[in-house]
Amino acid sequence: MCNEKRWFVGQRRRNQRQTTQKDLEDALKFGDINCELILKCVAVKKPAGDLCMQEFEQDERPLKPFLRWAGGKNWFAKHLASLLPRSGYRAYHEPFLGGGSIFFSIKPQERAYLSDLNTELITTYQALRDAPKEIIEHLSRYTNSEQFYYSIRSQSSKNWIEHAARFIFLNQTSFNGIYRVNLKGKYNVPYGYRTKNFLESQILRAASSRLKYAIITDGDFEMVRENLREGDLVFLDPPYTTSHNNNGFIKYNHKLFSLRDQQRLSLLIDYIKSKGAYYILTNADHKIITDLFDKGDTIIRLARANLIGGEHAARGKTTELIFMNTGVASE
Ligand SMILES: C[S@@+](CC[C@H](N)C(=O)[O-])C[C@H]1O[C@@H](n2cnc3c(N)ncnc32)[C@H](O)[C@@H]1O
Repeated sequence: MCNEKRWFVGQRRRNQRQTTQKDLEDALKFGDINCELILKCVAVKKPAGDLCMQEFEQDERPLKPFLRWAGGKNWFAKHLASLLPRSGYRAYHEPFLGGGSIFFSIKPQERAYLSDLNTELITTYQALRDAPKEIIEHLSRYTNSEQFYYSIRSQSSKNWIEHAARFIFLNQTSFNGIYRVNLKGKYNVPYGYRTKNFLESQILRAASSRLKYAIITDGDFEMVRENLREGDLVFLDPPYTTSHNNNGFIKYNHKLFSLRDQQRLSLLIDYIKSKGAYYILTNADHKIITDLFDKGDTIIRLARANLIGGEHAARGKTTELIFMNTGVASE
């Protein structure tokens, strides 16, 4: 069924041509990817429209995120350029920021609105944007040892520089880089015995300058509504409520993302469309999710190795869905 569909794909070398899903797969496979990629169109009701590779300028290189984050989309970042609206977009919104791998992989053309429910995370972003030098100086006094890790973990920070340094240090040296708090809201991830350098000053400085013009706020994803305008792009990477392929990592912090939250998210996507803006949503490959988010736009299924660790870890293959309206810009 999919083979009969015709897709328009902008080749890397600019020429546009009508192509098949096989060509789309090839186009998305550019770059060095460490995941197996299988694309299928699911319930596509019309051609995907214009999908186009967006080349990066020298100063718009993809950056490495400065944090490790459960559910991070590093693996997806390399495919994203081909899914962006061909005619460009205005402001960029990312309301489930986490480690920000997608934001750091693109250089938004205009203003970026970044947010997450995790206040400790967002305070770290704000501090890094405004005071990278002080944070790096602070981190350079830390040492990667079990004793030091637990002493930093048990302390609370006196100011936002210390807060950011502590957050980055614990993230880089903890077990698996997961963010987990106990019932009192205290970070309780054990030491990770990692030998890798925890202070990568260049990555921190580069991240800071890319964040310079970003509006960074903590709060629920519905805040997107406040600043959304026609032609904006919203990238949505919520925690996955349902397990896909009978595995999945569903706890990011002490609050779960419930089915009710997924329903709110579905309504937000209706709102985004009604404003004439674009969305790209990643979510678990599950019938409940398809029922909620099939808005008659493009749906892509991606398969990849599941490398998420932690308590509920399961290593193997998993599939995820990408829902988007970026290829149907003229609708
Ligand atoms: C899958 S992670 C995002 C990962 C990110 N895309 C990356 O590449 O690192 C989901 C994020 O959503 C946040 N979150 C959970 N519930 C939320 C809510 N109601 N509103 C906004 N953010 C929420 C979590 O704190 C977590 O950072």
